[in-house]
Amino acid sequence: MTTTEATEVTATEPNAEGYKQFTLGGFTFRRDEFFAHITWPTGSHVLSVDNFLRALQRDVAWDFFYGTVNFDGVFGTVNHYGTVDMFAGRYNDAYRKAELDHVENFETPLIRETFKAMLDDWTNDGFDPFASPAETEKPFGVKHGSNTPAVTRHRVTAERMVGVPGDEPIRTDATHPINRMFADVSQDEPEIHAEPGFEGEVAAFSLYAYLSRSDVTWNPSVVSQCKASLYCPTTEEYILPVIHGNDRVEWFIQLSDEIRWEVEDRDTGKPRAKVVMKAGDVAAMPGDIRHQGYSPKRSMLLVWENASPEIPELIRTGKASVYPVEF
Ligand code: PHB
Ligand code: FE
Repeated sequence: MTTTEATEVTATEPNAEGYKQFTLGGFTFRRDEFFAHITWPTGSHVLSVDNFLRALQRDVAWDFFYGTVNFDGVFGTVNHYGTVDMFAGRYNDAYRKAELDHVENFETPLIRETFKAMLDDWTNDGFDPFASPAETEKPFGVKHGSNTPAVTRHRVTAERMVGVPGDEPIRTDATHPINRMFADVSQDEPEIHAEPGFEGEVAAFSLYAYLSRSDVTWNPSVVSQCKASLYCPTTEEYILPVIHGNDRVEWFIQLSDEIRWEVEDRDTGKPRAKVVMKAGDVAAMPGDIRHQGYSPKRSMLLVWENASPEIPELIRTGKASVYPVEF
């Protein structure tokens, strides 16, 4: 394993299809009209560019998220909160047994800047990697334009709660029209009756109305924060474009409709469970799994994270469990 420290992005001039080729350590990335091609010293891999860009968009926007972001069963990243592993075949039994897997560790700024530059260069006009496939144009073809406003859009991260003065604002028709699939969601907002003198300290908002106006999918945003407790609701449609490998327990509360989760062993990919969550269902996803969700209709999901930085180490040293409760 090597650690690279510079933050300079290494890219070529545009290729025949108009896209730059990027190099990060021993990995190279090239796109053509339909595919992303990745090479590393012991192998190579091809992904459909639509899935690659959707996964890349989330890895960038989430700043490598909690734990592992698998773009598919071969390629992905592991967040060490300061540095990031980029791997090929590392969490794939067959690649491991054939000794074809490869991992390199990078300072977060270097991989972040490289991924941001690749996402911007490879995203064409009209394609929005965060949008439902039903609400965006296709990413394919030779390079035509760009979509920088979409790939750099603001990520909601409330410091206290949406609607608190000075914090993330609630959404309105002017900024966020109601999504086509949530036309029936009530837009009533709660009435606030604060004790005199406390008017500036009491806030409330309708989370359903807020989520009905989300223009992105599979993108948990922080709507409230109390110490390490983060409420990260999200609206889902079609398939989560990454397979997330947890490094801590996550709670899911299905706020509407239905999501089917494919749950596998985090390190080998062996199937562990299929979880069907219907509106009102609550589940705790263990800290040693990876999972991918399928949402046949646009749905609302509340992801509840414990963002405490000590958790991965507590789990590694056996001081915390990968389950929230032992029965
Ligand atoms: C997850 O990995 O837990 C996750 C990621 C994105 C979502 C929902 C859940 O939209
Ligand atoms: Fe997860």
